[in-house]
Amino acid sequence: MIVKIMMALGLVLFGFYLGYFILMRHKAKGWKPLHASGDFTPSVSIVVPTYNEEDMIIHKLKNLMEQDYPSNEVEVIVIDSASEDGTVELLVRFIKDIRGLKLRLIRESERKGKASALNNVLKHCSGEIVIITDVDATWEKDTLKKIVLNFSNPNVGAVTGRQILLNPDQSLATKVEKTYRSVFEVLRLGESSLDSTPIFNGPLMAFRLDLLEPISEDSIADDSQLAVKIRKKGFKSVYDPCAVFYECAPSSFESRFIQKVRRGQGLIQLFFREREVLFNSSYKKFGTIIFPAEFFMHVVSPVLVFAFSIQFLYSLFMVNPYVFVNLAIASGVFFIVLTLMKLDIIGFFSSFLDSQFVLLVSLVYYASGKSQHKWMKISEVRELWKKENQMTRDL
Ligand code: GDD
Ligand code: MN
Repeated sequence: MIVKIMMALGLVLFGFYLGYFILMRHKAKGWKPLHASGDFTPSVSIVVPTYNEEDMIIHKLKNLMEQDYPSNEVEVIVIDSASEDGTVELLVRFIKDIRGLKLRLIRESERKGKASALNNVLKHCSGEIVIITDVDATWEKDTLKKIVLNFSNPNVGAVTGRQILLNPDQSLATKVEKTYRSVFEVLRLGESSLDSTPIFNGPLMAFRLDLLEPISEDSIADDSQLAVKIRKKGFKSVYDPCAVFYECAPSSFESRFIQKVRRGQGLIQLFFREREVLFNSSYKKFGTIIFPAEFFMHVVSPVLVFAFSIQFLYSLFMVNPYVFVNLAIASGVFFIVLTLMKLDIIGFFSSFLDSQFVLLVSLVYYASGKSQHKWMKISEVRELWKKENQMTRDL
């Protein structure tokens, strides 16, 4: 009986992931974001949230000043939540000396988290398009132009850009992240093509100002919450692989785990809060296919994978030959299918297990009611960035 349940569980999981991935890969090929040549340069407000960012904030602002975009259409607003380091002093000095960039600093007297800061800053934004970007994300010269061009399509309400890792092969942890990102890319492209994607990259995202509304103050996945809200209003929330930003991934498994569990908890919180979208046909394919699939991957699947693993270990200890034969067949099918799909089997599998384990822990965190909307930044990522930056300067 147990063996049968285990096999059924394995089949459900394997069938679901294979089916969704094939569908998304097929759809991804048809996704062409709208950014052909031509001039489309509406006014933009670039929002940079900061909390203790003295190491990178000036670099970030200089990077924003290098954008290939009419400067009279750009305003940059830094919203700082009571940083305790030198961030504010650096900003005040920089604003005094700066020419040719509309730059403002809004200071909150208390830190309530990134989501709360984003809610506060909205009333200060005057651009038709609002771009939100993290301090530790560096843009290409044409990133702004490209992300904004998506809005020349009136159906598009929100856009997120593509992360390029600066240290993909630095360690085992960054290699796992690299594989995760390659799957992430296929899913975001496929979902954008099919309808909309509920999962956004917080380091670079853009919205129509008139569609933005405050989000929950304790939101951890502010990015994805905004994407879902915009889709619910009937506009598309899409991924543009041509609008890129560079970022470092944590190189140790410890830092990676901390960051991933927080992000996982944020997505789980979002999927529960927005559950009315589940199988809701008024949201078309977003409600009937995409949201349920993502809900399954983030909430249901980690529990099933955990149950499967326990059953698997139990059967191993019971030394049941029937299980071995079935497992041998299942693994054979698994390897053949992945090879046919030209996937890096080991990388793919370890990245899958890693993300499922992280999500299981995130679920436990979520259930315990501990909110992480005021998180500790990963200093390791900033240190790495400094090193990387030194390296490119030395070249
Ligand atoms: N104003 C303000 N207030 N800014 C904050 C606060 C706060 O309480 N906490 C963090 N920030 C700022 C940081 O200074 C940084 O510019 C940005 O928010 C992102 O913080 P990170 O610590 O770098 O977050 P992350 O890289 O782990 O997570 C990012 O990606 C996630 C997944 O896409 C963020 O963008 C998350 O919001 C996002 O969910
Ligand atoms: Mn970051």
